Amino acid sequence: MIKIATSILSSKDRIKSIKELNNTSTDYIHIDAMDNIFVPNYQLPLNEVNELGHFSNKPFDIHLMMEDPEPYIKGLNINNVDAITIHLEINKDVDKLINTIKSLGCKVGLAIKPKTDIDLINKYIDNIDKVIIMSVEPGFGGQKFISESINRIKEIRTKRNDIIIEVDGGINDETIKAIDTIADIAVVGSYITNNDNYQEAINNLKN
Ligand code: DX5
Ligand code: ZN
Repeated sequence: MIKIATSILSSKDRIKSIKELNNTSTDYIHIDAMDNIFVPNYQLPLNEVNELGHFSNKPFDIHLMMEDPEPYIKGLNINNVDAITIHLEINKDVDKLINTIKSLGCKVGLAIKPKTDIDLINKYIDNIDKVIIMSVEPGFGGQKFISESINRIKEIRTKRNDIIIEVDGGINDETIKAIDTIADIAVVGSYITNNDNYQEAINNLKN
């Protein structure tokens, strides 16, 4: 069954959301960190994420939408990090960053924006644990799912069958039906955090 990573990006009270998510069946807490350079938004600074880590009993799934992720990666101080994902499109030494993340003992992911040539993943694919297929332009929650993402998921699967495929953006109880048998993890933000009952929203996604 597809796993759910709940994004707290659009939550108005992130500590409260994390405490509530502790009592649900969400598999991960998805952290969206942005630098206002790689994407036009500034969210979840390091000190906030490190603080949120104290309140969570779920593993963190960290998605870094930033041009220079190294200081952020090195400054993370969280016990339970499942994976750290950087973007393929940044103008940095991606191989070196992959190794930096691996040395922390967690999974390493590469995220790819909707319009980026999917074949650019080829040279990294055997050296990473997961790919995040962006199904919206990164930067903001609450956008519409781009259906072309479905073909991109299938294409990644043909490149490497055992890679973890995560899909991020615009996923709700309807759009999840197009991906729940071909992807491993769905990132879901506003559909869960706008719901008064998080567990009920998660049940709708998993059914
Ligand atoms: C977008 C972020 C997503 C987003 C998901 O840049 O990477 O994780 O917060 O939010 P929804 O589910 O509202 O699209
Ligand atoms: Zn994300």
